[in-house]
Amino acid sequence: TERTLVLVKPDAVARGLTGEILARIERKGLRLVALELRHVSAEVAAEHYAEHVERPFYGSLIEFITSGPVVAAVLAGPRAVAAFRQLAGGTDPVAKAETGSIRGDFGLEVQENLVHGSDSVESAKREIDIWFPALG
Ligand code: GTP
Ligand code: MG
Repeated sequence: TERTLVLVKPDAVARGLTGEILARIERKGLRLVALELRHVSAEVAAEHYAEHVERPFYGSLIEFITSGPVVAAVLAGPRAVAAFRQLAGGTDPVAKAETGSIRGDFGLEVQENLVHGSDSVESAKREIDIWFPALG
């Protein structure tokens, strides 16, 4: 079994889509092992998105992810990393995400794309350490 770190981003929380997104996760068969509403500090945002520090959209991304509460979760299950990436859809909700995915069904913009999911088992370990250090 595998673990992955998921964020319901501020746009999705503000739009009242948290329940819908968690329902899709549960229907897929992924198990919730941690779940918490969090106000994101600048420090946690910077750690989480460290890989994007050189990107032109970095400042905007940090501003967005700290703009309101997120719901942070750890999911567990077989191939959990890939399974959640499939549920989420591609990064761009219109150009990449398919209808039927979270981003494809609910998103219009590349930044406000509703959810984050770890992109590898290694990233998941790093991100779970940031968001839920007690989980180890
Ligand atoms: P995450 O699961 O959130 O990491 O998304 P991802 O892995 O599909 O995309 P990536 O890691 O490449 O980018 C991280 C986040 O930055 C995306 O989810 C978007 O919110 C945002 N982002 C990515 N590309 C762009 C862009 O070109 N412009 C802007 N404004 N934001 C972007
Ligand atoms: Mg990513």
